[in-house]
Amino acid sequence: MLETFDEGKIYEVLLVTRSNVTPVGVIRNGKRLTFKLFPGRSFEEIQLTGSASIQLTNDPELLVRTALNLPVELEFEETEGHRWIKGLPGVYGRVEWKLETWRDELGETEVLLCELIPEGEIEGFLPLRPFSRADCVLVEMAVLFTRYLVRPEERTKSKVLELYELYRHLGGTSRTAEYMALHLEWGLKKRVD
Ligand SMILES: Cc1cc2nc3c(=O)[nH]c(=O)nc-3n(C[C@H](O)[C@H](O)[C@H](O)COP(=O)(O)O)c2cc1C
Repeated sequence: MLETFDEGKIYEVLLVTRSNVTPVGVIRNGKRLTFKLFPGRSFEEIQLTGSASIQLTNDPELLVRTALNLPVELEFEETEGHRWIKGLPGVYGRVEWKLETWRDELGETEVLLCELIPEGEIEGFLPLRPFSRADCVLVEMAVLFTRYLVRPEERTKSKVLELYELYRHLGGTSRTAEYMALHLEWGLKKRVD
């Protein structure tokens, strides 16, 4: 499983903790997967339990909707304190973490630097799904959108709206993309089914 991750490249995967699922960018470093979490539920739960699962998906909607905490239909399985999404391939294991201060031009926050040491493999498969540039753009929109929610900067908002135009141009029709664009344009909390 780990060999499918090229070392040094960032992969967008799902991080499953005690009660949460969120996308996270991981990098393989030998037999470990490293990632960085900003404050939130996953950040809290990893410190409490010291364990997590990391699972692959090729479904951009799933990555994006879990980032935005929008409803998704998932089933879970558990064993010996580990929990994961049924049917998606991945690994579960122990997480070593350390808290650091993250500084940039706008201030500082805490960040949790994590390393997952796999203890078991999760069986699953990825459905047949052709590659679409629109899907890449949707994921990029969500990365910037979640950043905007934490730090509402005008340039981030413009970039998300620009990406929405490109997304539509490439044939994308996701209601989740529309939700992000409407939220930014009108501050609407529009219902997304
Ligand atoms: C594709 C993608 C990758 C993301 N990667 C990370 C990440 O590596 N670290 C992080 O803190 N947030 C990441 N985010 C943002 C989180 O999903 C988002 O902030 C979420 O609300 C985390 O909070 P939670 O743990 O409370 O669910 C990513 C979002 C997307 C769409």
